[in-house]
Amino acid sequence: MRIIETMKNIDKIHDYAREKHIPIMKDDGLLFLLDYIQKHEDIQNILELGTAVGHSAIQMANIRWDMQIDTLEVNREMYEMAIQNIKDLGLADRIHCHLVDAIEYETDKIYDLVFVDAAKSQYKRYMEHFMVNTRKGSVFVFDNLNFHGIVEDPSLSHNRSTLQMTRKIKRFKEALFVDERFDVDFYSEIGDGIAIAKRRI
Ligand SMILES: C[S@@+](CC[C@H](N)C(=O)[O-])C[C@H]1O[C@@H](n2cnc3c(N)ncnc32)[C@H](O)[C@@H]1O
Repeated sequence: MRIIETMKNIDKIHDYAREKHIPIMKDDGLLFLLDYIQKHEDIQNILELGTAVGHSAIQMANIRWDMQIDTLEVNREMYEMAIQNIKDLGLADRIHCHLVDAIEYETDKIYDLVFVDAAKSQYKRYMEHFMVNTRKGSVFVFDNLNFHGIVEDPSLSHNRSTLQMTRKIKRFKEALFVDERFDVDFYSEIGDGIAIAKRRI
């Protein structure tokens, strides 16, 4: 019964986010991420950058009862909704939401997986900032590396700030693919372009 109630509530959070145009991860991208975490049982500690209303954090926490998630959100309104949703689903002991700019967050913890889903133009800075909180074998997951196709085809947008941001994503992506610290798999057709970068050293 509790499982059915939980599922209903997750669906409500999902539908609310879509209705209000809150940019939660695309459904196929999230399923892919959940499947990856499920298959890698050694993933216990997760750091998420970009909580929004807590949808992806809640879904990840539901994979295994003993996983711990820290999730960072800079927008107070989002943060408060996430805190409420996490509490409503009885997950406050395992999902720790922090109201902070991700680049300013510091901790001694070591994470098995860092899911990067905050400011797209800052991916490089986030990765370098949180290297110290990972180990050999930890993975960084980056979403939105296609940014609706605009990264590879800038003619799809005429918005100056979007184009600036997608140029940054492109530079980040190119550098990541040749970064010798990682083994990188890129899934262009999933979500909005997802990369999984596993630390080799
Ligand atoms: C794409 S949404 C996250 C969606 C969420 N991961 C999900 O799929 O359910 C990105 C979130 O990152 C937050 N954000 C943007 N810049 C940030 C920053 N510098 N630090 C922390 N959060 C940030 C935004 O307010 C927004 O809520």
